[in-house]
Amino acid sequence: MGQDAFMEPFSSMVVVLQCKVYLLLLGACSGLKVAVPSHTVHGMRGHALYLPVHYGFHTPASDIQIIWLFERAHTMPKYLLGSVNKSVVPDLEYQHKFTMMPPNASLLINPLQFTDEGNYIVKVNIQGNGTLSASQKIQVTVDDPVTKPVVQTQPSSGVVEHVGNMTLTCLVEGGTRLVYQWLKNGRPIHTSTTTSFSLQNNTLHIAPVTKEDIGNYSCLVKNPVSEMESDIIMPTIYYGPYGLRVNSDKGLKVGEVFTVDIGEAILFDCSADSYPPNTYSWIRKTDNTTYVIKHGPHLEVASEKIAQKTTDYVCCAYNNVTGRRDETHFTVIITSVGIEKLAQKGKSLSPLASITGISLFLIISMGLLLLWKKYQPYKVIKQKLEGRPETEYRKAQTFSGHEDALDDFGIYEFVAFPDASGVPRMPNRSIPASDGVPGQDLHSTIYEVIQHIPAQQQDHPE
Ligand SMILES: *[C@@H]1O[C@H](CO)[C@@H](O)[C@H](O)[C@H]1NC(C)=O
Ligand SMILES: *[C@@H]1O[C@H](CO)[C@@H](O)[C@H](O)[C@H]1NC(C)=O
Ligand SMILES: *[C@@H]1O[C@H](CO)[C@@H](O)[C@H](O)[C@H]1NC(C)=O
Ligand SMILES: *[C@@H]1O[C@H](CO)[C@@H](O)[C@H](O)[C@H]1NC(C)=O
Ligand SMILES: *[C@@H]1O[C@H](CO)[C@@H](O)[C@H](O)[C@H]1NC(C)=O
Ligand SMILES: *[C@@H]1O[C@H](CO)[C@@H](O)[C@H](O)[C@H]1NC(C)=O
Ligand SMILES: *[C@@H]1O[C@H](CO)[C@@H](O)[C@H](O)[C@H]1NC(C)=O
Ligand SMILES: *[C@@H]1O[C@H](CO)[C@@H](O)[C@H](O)[C@H]1NC(C)=O
Repeated sequence: MGQDAFMEPFSSMVVVLQCKVYLLLLGACSGLKVAVPSHTVHGMRGHALYLPVHYGFHTPASDIQIIWLFERAHTMPKYLLGSVNKSVVPDLEYQHKFTMMPPNASLLINPLQFTDEGNYIVKVNIQGNGTLSASQKIQVTVDDPVTKPVVQTQPSSGVVEHVGNMTLTCLVEGGTRLVYQWLKNGRPIHTSTTTSFSLQNNTLHIAPVTKEDIGNYSCLVKNPVSEMESDIIMPTIYYGPYGLRVNSDKGLKVGEVFTVDIGEAILFDCSADSYPPNTYSWIRKTDNTTYVIKHGPHLEVASEKIAQKTTDYVCCAYNNVTGRRDETHFTVIITSVGIEKLAQKGKSLSPLASITGISLFLIISMGLLLLWKKYQPYKVIKQKLEGRPETEYRKAQTFSGHEDALDDFGIYEFVAFPDASGVPRMPNRSIPASDGVPGQDLHSTIYEVIQHIPAQQQDHPE
């Protein structure tokens, strides 16, 4: 007993010590647990903010006390309100702002102001067999939501590739703690040799601008309570011409040489990638002199008008904003060989057509035969043959001439029977040699021609 009495204050001292350690580390000690879903809560100015708190304990309790304190950096903690059992004792200064409904320890702040930003401490005391205490801290931030950003482009008139620089500025009217992010075609932009950001990231600078910078830009602005993205802007970037090439609707192209048959009109098409679109001009070179023969992307050359058989042309593409030009040379050769070729083509057309026709006919026939075979299984035919009277065979074997052409009408099939030893029909029948089937043929393949008469199959004569 004496030992117990001596030990009691010592052990409870240990418990208190433990509790203090737990309080610091976890905000809970044996028997009582206080928990908050989040240690940081972001609130919007002017709105209500709810700070949820859960607690639980395992000992019988007579009194449950809940206390809320508020602390800001470099200021004294302030008492906000407290409760015992179900009665709340607010600080009269803040009684309209903070609400608690004990035994629920959660706190409602309404309306939230910038001055409410700071740490909120909740302390729960349980009075029972001794006193248990636990507390938690919640950091509250207060922000205004972000309004929709607007992107400004400098210069707004557009930039010439490799010459100009471009600056995009993201403007936001409302919102606090803004974090800016730039997106190109929906993906974040990172700093590079040509791309840089301002300190706040609210401006994007591209120097120099290239064709690769063409895209859909937007500015994404976030803060703890909201995020907004600007409309997409497509900066005007002048570039080109790039990849100049000439194509034609007809004729044979080998490198830069087009071969055209006499009498054929040929349409040339000049194209290059550029913004704004190029202006095109066509130049013909004849005897050391050049003529600009046409403006525009298309050129039609009517070959009968050409005196020479070989003519050099140039297509020039000019971008009047970038001030850059490109040109491509090509040669047009007019051939009379083409006419002979044309004649040959006409001759070779008929044999080719007949070969194609025959091939088609064969393919279709094979297909039909296969289909027919599929729906007319071999076994059925065999059974039919077995069930047929011998006289019919004799008739078929001895039949000759065309007494009545109508009798020939029908679909014919040539059926091959394998080795006769496997076929039960043969041993039952004695076929006279005079009938044209030699006796030694009993152990070789038998062929039969079967005539099918569509729709009349049932009432076949005899
Ligand atoms: C709190 O409630 C318990 C039981 O419900 C009671 O014993 C105790 O006296 C109450 N305390 C106060 C301060 O009302
Ligand atoms: C506390 O009250 C709020 C509503 O004010 C409720 O949503 C929450 O569930 C309550 N918490 C407990 C532990 O009862
Ligand atoms: C109070 O706590 C002590 C030890 O902490 C224990 O021996 C005693 O039984 C408890 N009493 C009740 C009523 O729970
Ligand atoms: C573009 O930026 C580069 C370097 O940032 C600068 O040297 C150049 O003068 C700028 N050009 C224009 C047209 O502003
Ligand atoms: C840019 O947006 C336009 C429509 O707003 C779309 O047609 C185009 O494909 C987009 N470009 C890219 C590269 O995403
Ligand atoms: C600016 O943007 C870059 C890259 O997108 C990012 O690494 C950096 O942290 C941002 N700076 C600020 C102040 O937001
Ligand atoms: C083409 O002109 C050059 C000088 O411009 C001259 O030397 C050359 O002889 C000329 N060729 C023909 C075929 O006229
Ligand atoms: C460039 O050419 C286009 C026609 O293709 C014309 O409309 C435009 O005015 C020209 N611009 C300049 C700066 O010359």
